[in-house]
Amino acid sequence: MTHPIGIRLHQCARTFARQQTALHPLDLQIEPGETLVLLGPSGCGKTTTLRIISGLERCDAGGEVWFDDRNVTALPIEKRNVGMVFQNYALFPHLNVAQNVAYGLRIQRLPESDIRLRVKAMLKMVDLSDFADRSVQALSGGQKQRVSLARALAARPKVLLFDEPLAALDAKLRDKLREDIGTLLEQLGITAVYVTHDQQEAMALGDRIAVMNKGRIEQIAAPRDIYHQPATPFVADFVGAVNRLSLPAGEFYCRPEDIHLGHVHGSMLQGTVLHSTFLGQSQRVWVAVAPGKAAVQIDCSPRQQWPVGEQVGLYAAPGNLFQI
Ligand SMILES: Nc1ncnc2c1ncn2[C@@H]1O[C@H](COP(=O)(O)OP(=O)(O)OP(=O)(O)O)[C@@H](O)[C@H]1O
Ligand SMILES: [Mg+2]
Repeated sequence: MTHPIGIRLHQCARTFARQQTALHPLDLQIEPGETLVLLGPSGCGKTTTLRIISGLERCDAGGEVWFDDRNVTALPIEKRNVGMVFQNYALFPHLNVAQNVAYGLRIQRLPESDIRLRVKAMLKMVDLSDFADRSVQALSGGQKQRVSLARALAARPKVLLFDEPLAALDAKLRDKLREDIGTLLEQLGITAVYVTHDQQEAMALGDRIAVMNKGRIEQIAAPRDIYHQPATPFVADFVGAVNRLSLPAGEFYCRPEDIHLGHVHGSMLQGTVLHSTFLGQSQRVWVAVAPGKAAVQIDCSPRQQWPVGEQVGLYAAPGNLFQI
């Protein structure tokens, strides 16, 4: 593999008809070999940003897209050497697995023997060697997504772009394929941009996460920093549950897993158990701490019993409280 490239967006905006702004002028630097995740709610501009990087979409006049020191703003997708993986697979139903993977290579007019070798290597990489002759219509969702990943990689792209590739899969399969994609991205060292609205997927795959809201990036940082040092209340709330606590020293935020329940005496806050939900690997308990205030959410061991109506004390290590 040749060395990975860096991507730079400079003042990239996108306004659709009737002055609807999908993206405010955006500056974004993606480092060579990095996996950057674009995370945010529906309609925040993730796909639009990805499409501008790919060349499927043009940004408004004045914006620029750079791949290393090459200005690619005016180049269409087929000249940018990017591979794309979509939620809906976008496979050709009348072609079998190997033919789908080979498709782009045939268009590039590679010699047939090279194509065969490369398709074989790609199918091995995504663990589908035994499926080469299978119709893609006779595959599970997870297998289809592996084919589309193999097809994207076969052309040896400089950049891999993913748009919610796991959104259509069930939870177990999603976890497995997420692991596999993560391993693959690490091995390949390719520059990748990955769009999702699932915060766990973002945490697991991103070297950095850009949290988007209403056409802007609210914060861009490593997953741990996004989670533990969110820059805005929106980011704090979007990447997981968060409590806002009124303490004598001021207003603080705290994650549910950083609060412990115990005796009332000597605790940071006191309250009454409202209800609890058993989640298998953990348990979430809601505690009312003051009239008119949102109940505090606490994640604790599923084996503990916290009966409704019980008076409890809340505890948190000072280092786990943060302000925004
Ligand atoms: N072709 C278009 N014409 C008009 N508006 C558009 C077009 N494409 C996107 N938009 C609007 O731009 C905004 C951003 O859309 P985008 O597809 O980038 O969102 P997204 O973050 O990918 O959302 P989702 O998670 O639902 O896929 C939305 O308000 C959307 O309605
Ligand atoms: Mg989208």
